[in-house]
Amino acid sequence: MHIAILSRNKNLYSTRRLHEEAGKVKVRCSFVNPLHCQLVIDGDASRILVGKKTLPRYDLVLPRIGASITEYGLSVAKHFEMKGILTINSSRSIAESRNKMRCLQVLTKEGILVPATVLTRSTRDLPMAVDAAKGLPVVLKILQGTQGVGVMLVHTPVSLGSVLDTLHALHQDVIVQQFIVEGAGRDFRAFVVGNRVIASMMRTAPQGEFRSNIHRGGAGNTVELPKAYKKAAIHAAQILGLEIAGVDLMESSQGPMVIEVNSSPGFEGIEKATGTNIASAILRHIRRK
Ligand SMILES: Nc1ncnc2c1ncn2[C@@H]1O[C@H](COP(=O)(O)OP(=O)(O)O)[C@@H](O)[C@H]1O
Ligand SMILES: [Mg+2]
Repeated sequence: MHIAILSRNKNLYSTRRLHEEAGKVKVRCSFVNPLHCQLVIDGDASRILVGKKTLPRYDLVLPRIGASITEYGLSVAKHFEMKGILTINSSRSIAESRNKMRCLQVLTKEGILVPATVLTRSTRDLPMAVDAAKGLPVVLKILQGTQGVGVMLVHTPVSLGSVLDTLHALHQDVIVQQFIVEGAGRDFRAFVVGNRVIASMMRTAPQGEFRSNIHRGGAGNTVELPKAYKKAAIHAAQILGLEIAGVDLMESSQGPMVIEVNSSPGFEGIEKATGTNIASAILRHIRRK
């Protein structure tokens, strides 16, 4: 079996780990930098060029597309799909989960519990947005942020107005979200492969911080998730059509709340915290396909 990993940087922890484990499970693995791909549409001769070469017919493509190249990366994934090559995750499911508002819209429609959230462009009607987000403080998020960057906690109407004005001037759409006070400073990352949670950790924010991302200094510890959390994580991944997903959950008075779903979740934090071989689990899942 010959697969391609779509990734800009083969030295990133997760891509490196996939490469290390691929040999062990008899999967041949090539790296393709999406930004080196030229996508040709020409009827049956449609192809993907890297330099002068047309890329071969891989058995499967694993997109690991960073937030900085979402649009181009998705076009590359779509081109493989157009040629009839299976991509895991699919370009459609990546697109759906990458935008935080869209992701919550899709999850809510299927009955998954998520924080009250408002997308707004208005500066006049902010009191209504704050009310709908269950009052101050509120969490602000830019739609395409990752690793905790673009997530802000706002305590007063004055800061809310000025921060929103600034972000809108920078052409950033923003959601205003209910601050989950019960579970603040802590969240749960469930790593879903296929229809299973293969590893999970609790992340605790450092002192004086509300974001628990490992990249923001959060500490990860292995945890056995209660059934309701696992169920919510698996269901969320299924709704979005993601076979590989990092689902972030928080504890709320109403039960587990899904905060976001990552379609190219990193392995470093969770492999180190839980000792689970995530790379191998993904490759074995792929091999079964
Ligand atoms: N509504 C919320 N209430 C309280 N804390 C939150 C809320 N949303 C996010 N957080 C905290 O901020 C972190 C980052 O938010 P998240 O939506 O996962 O964005 P990112 O994609 O940047 O990881 C979460 O891991 C959690 O600790
Ligand atoms: Mg997150």
